[in-house]
Formats: sequence, C-alpha cells, structure tokens
Amino acid sequence: MNNLLLSPLLKWVGGKRQLLSDILPMVDNKCSTYVEPFIGGGAVLFSMQPKRAIINDYNHELINVYRVVRDNLDELLELLYIHQANNSSEYYYEVRAWDRDEYLNKMTNIEKAARIIYLNKTCYNGLYRVNSAGQFNSPYGRYKNPNIVNEAVLKAVSKYFKNNDIDIRNGDYKDTLINLDKRSFVYLDPPYMPISSSSSFTGYTEGGFGYEHQVELKEECDKLTQKGIRFVQSNSDCDEIRELYKEYKIKIVKAKRSINSVAKKRGEINEVLIYNV
Ligand SMILES: C[S@@+](CC[C@H](N)C(=O)[O-])C[C@H]1O[C@@H](n2cnc3c(N)ncnc32)[C@H](O)[C@@H]1O
Repeated sequence: MNNLLLSPLLKWVGGKRQLLSDILPMVDNKCSTYVEPFIGGGAVLFSMQPKRAIINDYNHELINVYRVVRDNLDELLELLYIHQANNSSEYYYEVRAWDRDEYLNKMTNIEKAARIIYLNKTCYNGLYRVNSAGQFNSPYGRYKNPNIVNEAVLKAVSKYFKNNDIDIRNGDYKDTLINLDKRSFVYLDPPYMPISSSSSFTGYTEGGFGYEHQVELKEECDKLTQKGIRFVQSNSDCDEIRELYKEYKIKIVKAKRSINSVAKKRGEINEVLIYNV
C-alpha cells in the first residue's frame, strides 16, 4: 500500500500532480530502476514510490533540499519553526536577499534548505524562480496561514529516501541516462517548449532550456529507444514538438496551467505524452 503522506515538499512550476491519472498508467512500476532526470517537485516519484530510483535535477538548491530532508531532518525542522515564527513581508525579503551577497556561500546546507522551503511556502504563487544571475526573485505572497512546516510530509519523504535505494543526483539530465539497465523506466519532464513568447518560463535555473536543448533531448530519447529502454516524456503540444517526435507515439492530455501572466490565457491547455512503450 502506498503511503499517502508522500507528496511534493515544494510547489514547482510544471508540477505534475493534476496529470498523474494520465501519466501513472503509462509507467511500469515493475521496472528494475525508475529514472526521473528532471525531478522538480517529484509528483510522479512520490505517487509511484518505487523502491529503487535515480532522481536528478540541475537545480542544486532543490537537490540540496532533498538531501537535507534525508540526512538532517531534525535540524531542518528546528530552522523551519524559526522561519515560521518570524514570517512577515519584511522578514521574507531579508531571507530572500541572502543570495545577493556572499552570505549564502557561508550558510550550511541545512540553512540553505530551510531558506528554500520557507521562501517556496511564502512567495507569490509558491513558485521557485530565479533571475539570470541565479538570484531568487519571486515577490512575497501574503498568505494568511502558509503551511511552512508540514512535518508529517517532511518525515514521510525523509523515511522514504532513507529506507529505499534512491540515488539523488545534481547535474545534467544526460548523465542519468548513461549505463542504465535495460529494464529501467525513464520518465522525462523537461522544461517545456514555449508555446508563446509570454508563456516561456525558463526561470528554474540560470541557463534556461531552448529549442536546441529540445533537439538534444530527442536524440537522447532515440538512444534510449535503440537500447530498448522504455520512456515517457511530457511536453507542450506545439508544432516543433510534434515534428521532432513524429516517429513516436503521442498522447494528448489536458492540463490546467496558471503560469501565464495574461489572466485570460490561464486555463486548460493541451500537453503531450510522448512514449516508446
Ligand atoms: C517541468 S520541471 C519538472 C516538474 C516535475 N515533474 C514536478 O512534478 O514538479 C523541469 C525541471 O527540469 C530542471 N532542469 C532544467 N534543465 C535541466 C537539465 N539540463 N538537466 C536536468 N534538469 C534540468 C528544472 O530545474 C526543473 O526542475
């Protein structure tokens, strides 16, 4: 029986919670290793709860959160309660500014993880967003009672990481696709191909993910297919993606998205699931 407390610790752009009913039936939960190279908030992983997995993200602040939750939960909870007690707009901007000077480099990994969780729970729309210099730049969210310390979920995630064989990596997704067992299963959820200039969210990391990265990803999918390794990939439903993956199977799914700043463009949009299974 899956543990229902296991769920994303952080709200993440592109979170897959609402698409789980489309994605989960396509993922083989009897695979030898479940591989998620763009883990983000981890909605699919936490729902599947595989015993053996490789998870990865380029965002080192995010991966640091997962490692600290696994290794230093008590100290992390202590710091989160301090943030909760101090929470205000003024305090938020003070904590946000810790990456504007050398201060962040002097902080411990536990302090860094507590900062990211605090900012994620209290910032506008709960979105992790950095500018081109890698500085967190979401404004304060003004929630009445932000759930800054969700102790039950933090404990469940910590236990899951500790009691299973979960390899938590921080790097480029391509490195996680090397030397995989043939019976592995890969779920790829890359930053999406933008469908319009106003929806091009690239703020997960300083570098962004452009069309040339989408082409490179397609080549990686070809390599997996040649090796007989099964994958499913999420992406946006647009001409470039349909053209790139014309030799693959594509399923259209509907998602509610609210990242677009133009209010009338929020709402249901088509996304695709590309697969070779
Ligand atoms: C669409 S999000 C994944 C959302 C996730 N499925 C969820 O449910 O929250 C894409 C993720 O890819 C990461 N990313 C961007 N470029 C990357 C790269 N070259 N290698 C690995 N991860 C990368 C971003 O930091 C971001 O967390």
